[in-house]
Amino acid sequence: MSKISKPILEVKNLVKKFGDFTAVDGISFEIKEGEILGFLGPNGAGKSTTINCLLGAVKPDGGEIKVFGKELFGNRSEIMKQVNYCSAEFNTGWHLRVNEALLVYCKLYEVKNPKARIDEVLEIFEAKKWKNKPVRELSFGQRARINMCKALLNKPRLLLLDEPMASMDPDVVDRGIAQIKKIQRETGISILYTSHNMWEIEQVADEVVFVNHGKVIAKGSPLALTQQYFKKETKEPNLREVFIELSRGEDILEGNNELI
Ligand SMILES: Nc1ncnc2c1ncn2[C@@H]1O[C@H](COP(=O)(O)OP(=O)(O)O)[C@@H](O)[C@H]1O
Ligand SMILES: [Mg+2]
Repeated sequence: MSKISKPILEVKNLVKKFGDFTAVDGISFEIKEGEILGFLGPNGAGKSTTINCLLGAVKPDGGEIKVFGKELFGNRSEIMKQVNYCSAEFNTGWHLRVNEALLVYCKLYEVKNPKARIDEVLEIFEAKKWKNKPVRELSFGQRARINMCKALLNKPRLLLLDEPMASMDPDVVDRGIAQIKKIQRETGISILYTSHNMWEIEQVADEVVFVNHGKVIAKGSPLALTQQYFKKETKEPNLREVFIELSRGEDILEGNNELI
């Protein structure tokens, strides 16, 4: 693991409301340089809304976001040159071929030597075979891989991943994780990583933040959280049990024991 030092991302008391509903209710956390932070919580916890705030795609109602030591709002275009984002869905350029769609992003990101860079990122996610295919002919999982390629085009210092591998085959996830760890080791990139696959998070995350109902309810390393919430002597992280404990408990108390 690379040296972990100063914060790359600082989030303080972040609030986002939709009408009367508070989706993000005072969330605070930070990501240090070279750190991979697992960002976990049940459906509707406020993870994607937080990420949208970090991208400046939605305007928070309160709180502070600093990226690379600077306020996001006011320095957004400069900051975003070194940030990228990936979810499970790639919607761009339905009718374009994969390399054409990625070229559009290269133009947006002002990538030097775009053709070489496109080849490099396609190589990383073993997606070169789809280079000349129209995006619309790819499966959901294949498009998700292209989306990961897109997210690396500008060699970001901060990468925000919102369930990026949700639709990929397990062996592809396996190799994708290995690639992300390799990139992290080689480049010292910092990553916010959201997933419902606890195995994925155990593989990549240095630290984990659990959110529910828009609030941070637990923070720590995967092993420390397992020891705290699994309530068993263990030397192996078991975030699945932690997740169930943290996201079920209060729903059962509220008499709402639906599948989360
Ligand atoms: N644009 C929106 N308008 C109204 N409510 C929204 C909007 N986006 C998200 N929400 C609500 O905010 C809550 C958090 O959503 P989200 O951040 O997508 O959760 P997560 O990513 O953790 O599953 C949910 O209850 C969701 O319905
Ligand atoms: Mg989400």
